[in-house]
Amino acid sequence: MNLEARKVIFVVVIAILSAQKSDAECDFEAIFNFGDSNSDTGGFYAAFPSENLPYGMTYFKKPVGRATDGRVILDFLAQALGLPFVSPYLQSIGSDFRHGANFATLASTVRLPQTSVFVTGVSPFSLAIQLNQMKQFKSKVDELHSLGQAEKNIPPPDIFGKSLYTFYIGQNDFTGNLASLGISGVKQYLPQVVSQIATTIKEIYELGGRTFLVLNLAPIGCYPAFLVELPHDTSDIDSFGCMVSYNNAVADYNLMLDEELIKTRKDIIDANIIYADIHSVMLDLFRHPSSYGMKYGTKACCGYGGGPHNFDQKVYCGNTKLVNGQNLTATACNDPFNYVSWDGIHATEAANEIVANAIINGSCFDPPLPLLKCRRK
Ligand SMILES: *[C@@H]1O[C@H](CO)[C@@H](O)[C@H](O)[C@H]1NC(C)=O
Ligand SMILES: *[C@@H]1O[C@H](CO)[C@@H](O)[C@H](O)[C@H]1NC(C)=O
Repeated sequence: MNLEARKVIFVVVIAILSAQKSDAECDFEAIFNFGDSNSDTGGFYAAFPSENLPYGMTYFKKPVGRATDGRVILDFLAQALGLPFVSPYLQSIGSDFRHGANFATLASTVRLPQTSVFVTGVSPFSLAIQLNQMKQFKSKVDELHSLGQAEKNIPPPDIFGKSLYTFYIGQNDFTGNLASLGISGVKQYLPQVVSQIATTIKEIYELGGRTFLVLNLAPIGCYPAFLVELPHDTSDIDSFGCMVSYNNAVADYNLMLDEELIKTRKDIIDANIIYADIHSVMLDLFRHPSSYGMKYGTKACCGYGGGPHNFDQKVYCGNTKLVNGQNLTATACNDPFNYVSWDGIHATEAANEIVANAIINGSCFDPPLPLLKCRRK
């Protein structure tokens, strides 16, 4: 190819790139995520290595620190925006932070955990810790750039205003004490949970963040694990097999979160705060799996015991335990794409993709904003 021909191609490519760019309503260069196991991409297991198959079996073919068989909602969002999977902040090998960082870890709460992970199954990386990590991240990036020492896996210093900040956290605050305190006990501190999410948004705004996407809580009254573990009367079960009392409490929490975000929008008026109602998508999935080409709503793919929920708290997905002289192993089904629930608590990749699509096409947003229009060029 001669020089003239190359020049022409070069000009055409530039023209296409700039034409696409002008179409974009927004153009996110990075995602910074705060959350728990629902959006962990490897942080918890980087800190506490122990994950095994069948986690990761569907997409990655090996355990990669996600609490599902494949991709989490965050992974689908990143892909839709044309960004790579978001590297866990705690993962020191193989991470690339040019397009953001993921502070989420399995078992994280919004409120400070009262005891250590090894005692209660609650992660030490609560939302306040995740925010501190974000602040540390930004100050390190700023410092490295000012010293001219930014390595190649470090984002440019102006990244923070061009990023999407996502939150999918609160489920463990909600469910962690349900067995001991009951619904009314848990409700006492839920206002604290939503107000801390709002405070975190305002602090990130101070760091330069302008676009925030907050996912509400899914209907945990339909989760196989909670249907087995949480006390309830048979009269509490609705025609879809879900617990009405717990689902109503989640709906109350979501309303509180929505109202808190409405207030927060008035406090930081040039910010874009989006409330993503994934609850309605998940509820519809649990109630009508066949409308989405699936077979099972309230039955886990990976578990032990079979029955309507295929969940036994004596042995979790991927584990073997000696119970009464007998080895019990919780194994995965062969068709996770037919299930909403992966392991009794976390959704399958198939369900995550459906929820992510609803977010991406904007159908569950307040205010509506199809993220597809924000695809990175
Ligand atoms: C249970 O499994 C362990 C680990 O594979 C094995 O060492 C042990 O012998 C098994 N016990 C029984 C009763 O099958
Ligand atoms: C958006 O996604 C949801 C969930 O997958 C789907 O039901 C809906 O039809 C989609 N809407 C559009 C406009 O694509």
